[in-house]
Amino acid sequence: MALLEILHYPDKRLHLVAKPISKIDDEIKTLVDNMAETMYNESNSIGLAATQVNVQKRVFIVDHSADNEPKNLLVFINPEIISKSGEVIGEEGCLSVPGVYEKVTRAEKITCRHQDLDGKTHEAKYDGLMAICIQHELDHLDGKVFVDYLSVLKQNFIKKKMKKLFK
Ligand code: NI
Repeated sequence: MALLEILHYPDKRLHLVAKPISKIDDEIKTLVDNMAETMYNESNSIGLAATQVNVQKRVFIVDHSADNEPKNLLVFINPEIISKSGEVIGEEGCLSVPGVYEKVTRAEKITCRHQDLDGKTHEAKYDGLMAICIQHELDHLDGKVFVDYLSVLKQNFIKKKMKKLFK
């Protein structure tokens, strides 16, 4: 296993759209292992998308119980939101935008279809934190960062903050 480098906003590579995974082979399994190690290495992290580690493949991982300890790792391969309803405003953060937490409006309930590491297809309804998290991570695969939903003023402020942090 290996720690992967996380891209930081406003890196343009965070806006690349990830491609569907046609075969779940050893390369994908290794990628997921490394993504998990990378996520658990960070504090307060509950999700990580391949886009964030500069791999343009449609996979993200989520673990709500993550206090840096692997407990309940969920792997979403080729995820699709097939229905959504309601509206909820939650405060979001992101490993690609460290130290920034802002309110974002999302669908309150979603139905999501995805494959697991064995290639098995799952379809399930989600609400609460899990629904928000899935929408946030799926956005990454579509080249979107939660900062993109904020005002231009806030986006510019965050860009400056990141520049200072990573100079
Ligand atoms: Ni994120």
